[in-house]
Amino acid sequence: MDYLGKSINGLFDSKAMANSENKTIIIQLNPPAALSGNNLQVLLEKRYSCRYFQDKKISLDSLGNILWAACGKKYNSVTGATRTIPSAGATYPLELFVVVGRNSVDRLKESAYQYLIEEHSLKIILTGDRRQELCRACLGQDFITKAPVSLIISAEFKRTRQRYGERGDRYVYIETGHACQNTYLAVTNLGLGAVEVGAFNDRDVKSMINSNKDLQPIIVISMGYPMEWGK
Ligand SMILES: Cc1cc2nc3c(=O)[nH]c(=O)nc-3n(C[C@H](O)[C@H](O)[C@H](O)COP(=O)(O)O)c2cc1C
Repeated sequence: MDYLGKSINGLFDSKAMANSENKTIIIQLNPPAALSGNNLQVLLEKRYSCRYFQDKKISLDSLGNILWAACGKKYNSVTGATRTIPSAGATYPLELFVVVGRNSVDRLKESAYQYLIEEHSLKIILTGDRRQELCRACLGQDFITKAPVSLIISAEFKRTRQRYGERGDRYVYIETGHACQNTYLAVTNLGLGAVEVGAFNDRDVKSMINSNKDLQPIIVISMGYPMEWGK
């Protein structure tokens, strides 16, 4: 018997015996709330998809924090990690765009921007309040017109395909999931709410990030201060 079996006082022994008799084995885990109540735990408990937003500005620093959490650059001299999310083969296929409404973010004009990951800065790619356009592209999901900010996560698939062939596509979607979850958690941490939007017309959303023809939009995430009555 190895140390794992001994550490749970014989429980492991009896289950192992049950296994040899082909019975179903169920191991009850402690409820997660009993573990620690640390920040991550609290954020995971609080996260939900918010579709009702207050007419309240987001600060530019909050937006910067969210973008950095989603897919930002860092350098950890011990681990060598250079982004807030993992990337298959460090091929970094993702590019982020932000649609900012009128009077929606302090010190930021209504426009569509690209988040320049290396520089941690925003570059204007389309001027004007583009929320109506984005809402139409997302099949009329009208909370998008109320959300101060919507993030468009897109990818240049060939960066990852060049290394992994067709399997690379799978890795790109997984990496997008990492960025989405980081966004949800960062938003929650700032007292904001967000919802990810996968139902959209690819061509129409793509036209809003027209800076690069190889970029494919994968998911939109709309965010803002939530209405008190939640969902
Ligand atoms: C890939 C993906 C696409 C989604 N697309 C939409 C969408 O187009 N519109 C929407 O209102 N919610 C969308 N959602 C949010 C889900 O409806 C939501 O996560 C689900 O109802 C569970 O609720 P919760 O996030 O509050 O736990 C999407 C979620 C995922 C993961």
